[in-house]
Amino acid sequence: MIIKPKVRGFVCVTAHPAGCAAHIQQQIDYVKAKGPIKDGPRKVLVIGASTGFGLSSRITAAFGSGAATLGIFYERPSEEGRPATPGWYNSIAFTQAARAAGLYAQNINGDAFSDDIKKQALAIIARDLGQVDLVVYSLASPRRQHPRTGAVHKSTLQPIGTAYTNKTVDTDKGIVSEVTIQPADEAGIADTLAVMGGEDWEMWMDALSEAKLLAPGATAISYSYIGPIHTWPIYKDGTIGRAKIDLERAAKAIHAKLQATVGGRAFISVNKALVTQASSAIPVVPLYISILYKVMKAAGTHEGCIEQIQRLFATQLFNGQQPTFDSEGRVRVDDWEMRPAIQDAISAIWPHVTTENLVELTDITGYRTEFLKMFGFGLPGIDYDADIEPHLPMI
Ligand code: NAD
Ligand code: NA
Repeated sequence: MIIKPKVRGFVCVTAHPAGCAAHIQQQIDYVKAKGPIKDGPRKVLVIGASTGFGLSSRITAAFGSGAATLGIFYERPSEEGRPATPGWYNSIAFTQAARAAGLYAQNINGDAFSDDIKKQALAIIARDLGQVDLVVYSLASPRRQHPRTGAVHKSTLQPIGTAYTNKTVDTDKGIVSEVTIQPADEAGIADTLAVMGGEDWEMWMDALSEAKLLAPGATAISYSYIGPIHTWPIYKDGTIGRAKIDLERAAKAIHAKLQATVGGRAFISVNKALVTQASSAIPVVPLYISILYKVMKAAGTHEGCIEQIQRLFATQLFNGQQPTFDSEGRVRVDDWEMRPAIQDAISAIWPHVTTENLVELTDITGYRTEFLKMFGFGLPGIDYDADIEPHLPMI
């Protein structure tokens, strides 16, 4: 099969297996070039391990600290005439590279919100690893079937209280327009919290704890976002922001339990806004990211997922370092994004962006390059005209 990108709105419905593998290799090379992360994790569970920040966490743990990793994700294999999702190919490529380097790597593809997948994970940890010393919780999902009630909750990306109007960009067509998003009702707020809040993370940690699968001093971490005033109504002060407040509540509850049981710790890292499958679906945010990339690249402070997580591990979590907490007890690797000089430059550009000057005033070009890269397109050394086998079994 010859596989080309097929972009439909904010998704690409194809993915290139060799390109995804090359993307994984770039991230591995980056982590190795930064050198070993001392006193790093040895046995790691990553929930949401196949793309974005979770994938980068897995790569950093494995190739920065030589960790054994169990990755949980929910990806679609190839079907007749249709390639698999990028996370499917990413996970295969990661696992091959890790095993070739002599590292344990195992995968579970299925719904992390379910009791069944948790049970499978506990069994694999007990059998192969004994215990885990790091749990990374990095799910981004549009829905969750609650394991107790059976109810299906759907998350929304909506403001709360009043409608929100701002500029947005159709990243595929390059059209800048105004969008108005209606506020969520109470049910929408509650549903988003049920999907993206902290309850499932707590369920994972309780299950691991009850099965005595948490090593002494174990660390648990999950990721959040805050961002600037331009996106507050749709992010920080919107439905997703409410869910993140609940995730922070869960971090404190998990921290207290870990302290009491294994002398461990749990916290939230607030990360930078980056092109991922999750963020590309949020209105307004892709325009912000396009301007952010322009300004941070000019300042020489731009980072992608792998740079963010490598910095988090090497300067905050391990390597003889202690985390620096903000007033709310969170680690901030969005610090470079939030610098006043960066935000002032973005605010100066924001009102002037139009469809006509989009390429000039923003890094929409870089946004699109990053977006396609997530699906394995545009990687150097890959022959995209070559016939390639899309059917790869999970390993
Ligand atoms: P992503 O879409 O790249 O990754 C989501 C992961 O979750 C994938 O591995 C996917 O397979 C997995 N997943 C989704 N539903 C699942 C299910 N039911 N069962 C098992 N696995 C499932 O997302 P991301 O952007 O890396 O987001 C990860 C976390 O980082 C989220 O908490 C997000 O809010 C946070 N974050 C993202 C940004 C950003 O700009 N992208 C910034 C800061 C924080
Ligand atoms: Na992730």
